[in-house]
Amino acid sequence: MTTSDIARGLEGVNVTATRLCRIDGLKGELVYSGYDIFDLAEHSTFEEVAFLLWNQRLPSSEELAGLQSKLLAERSLDPIIERLLRELHTLVRPMRTLEIAVEVLGAIDRNSSDLTNAQLKQTAARLTAKMATVIAAYHRIRQGLPVVEPRDDLGHSANFLYMLTGREPNALEARTFDVAMVLHAEHEMNASTFSAIVTASTLSDMYSAIASAIGTLKGPLHGGANEAVYKIVDAIGEEQNIASYVEAMLARGERVMGIGHRVYKTTDPRAIILERLGHEVAKQSPDRKYFDLSLKLRDYLAKKLEGKPLYPNVDFFSASVYKMLGIPADLYTPIFAISRITGWTAHLLEQYGDNRLVRPNAVYEGADNRAYEPIEERS
Ligand SMILES: CC(C)(COP(=O)(O)OP(=O)(O)OC[C@H]1O[C@@H](n2cnc3c(N)ncnc32)[C@H](O)[C@@H]1OP(=O)(O)O)[C@@H](O)C(=O)NCCC(=O)NCCS
Repeated sequence: MTTSDIARGLEGVNVTATRLCRIDGLKGELVYSGYDIFDLAEHSTFEEVAFLLWNQRLPSSEELAGLQSKLLAERSLDPIIERLLRELHTLVRPMRTLEIAVEVLGAIDRNSSDLTNAQLKQTAARLTAKMATVIAAYHRIRQGLPVVEPRDDLGHSANFLYMLTGREPNALEARTFDVAMVLHAEHEMNASTFSAIVTASTLSDMYSAIASAIGTLKGPLHGGANEAVYKIVDAIGEEQNIASYVEAMLARGERVMGIGHRVYKTTDPRAIILERLGHEVAKQSPDRKYFDLSLKLRDYLAKKLEGKPLYPNVDFFSASVYKMLGIPADLYTPIFAISRITGWTAHLLEQYGDNRLVRPNAVYEGADNRAYEPIEERS
């Protein structure tokens, strides 16, 4: 084996088979268990997509109602998590808070080491409900505001916005956010899903696998990009600054966040859907300048990067859409996580159902045959 045998970044390596998601990066296609993302974004709710990912089929009305009740039953904020949030919020940013909270949820779940399919599905629903509550409560507590109790009459996404802001979202806000949740739910073998799979492959439990995934999603080359896009757009401020800002970034060898993708070599279909929604939300938002500036930045980059396979990805427009919904930038990546929990757990169901330890190799390129030197003889 030589270093030329290494698939850097595991690009092009198939690690497993899945029935959850198919991406055609050249055509810009994203399909969850046979359903095109454009159809799901138009017709499905987040709860239906969660059911689809966990069962590889869309639910009947009774099945959907069953899942909704399961999520409702798990929506409350556990007292130990509330105490934790009150202790941590001045020290720890939201993604790490979520990572810690998931491990604590595992610690207090007596069934955490039960890896049967039925229990794992229960845990998947529990985490889906509770992670949203954790992020909403964290945001309330850090502002010195009372935690908002969940509302049983609201769907998962609308209830999250309600718990976050204390105000019931209007129909367009609720639908826009729900579509964003649908778009982020699943994306084949991305870095955070792979992390979750590696952890689960040791037969560690679902909570630890999800904590690994959250830690991986946090990085700016993955889920952290949406917050980074917001910072770029905010720093640009005005259309006339776009060229100088981008030129300076590229001259420093930096990447424009929200652009480029390991798999898509055309515009990410999720960016197309979010842009469409953005036009609607902009009509009623006092923060539309972020969206308008994102459009100008996109157009500028299309010319600047012409000929390179670098196009907007999902994070490019999610930043300004969330901003227009009144969500603070440091919650954009946690929001990615509270949606992707469905895809992560769906992959974990597949992994636990047909497990093999993930343990690749590395090509050794260090020194060999060295004589051991006693410490007093080392320089
Ligand atoms: C997502 C990403 C990590 C994929 O990267 P990758 O598949 O490892 O691709 P590479 O890092 O090998 O990049 C290939 C080339 O495109 C360039 N490139 C990639 N993304 C770029 C970006 N956002 N801005 C400017 N140049 C970029 C690289 O510099 C490299 O150029 P070179 O061949 O001249 O050195 C990368 O596109 C990126 O960093 N994007 C910004 C972060 C982001 O939005 N992440 C969210 C993804 S959903």
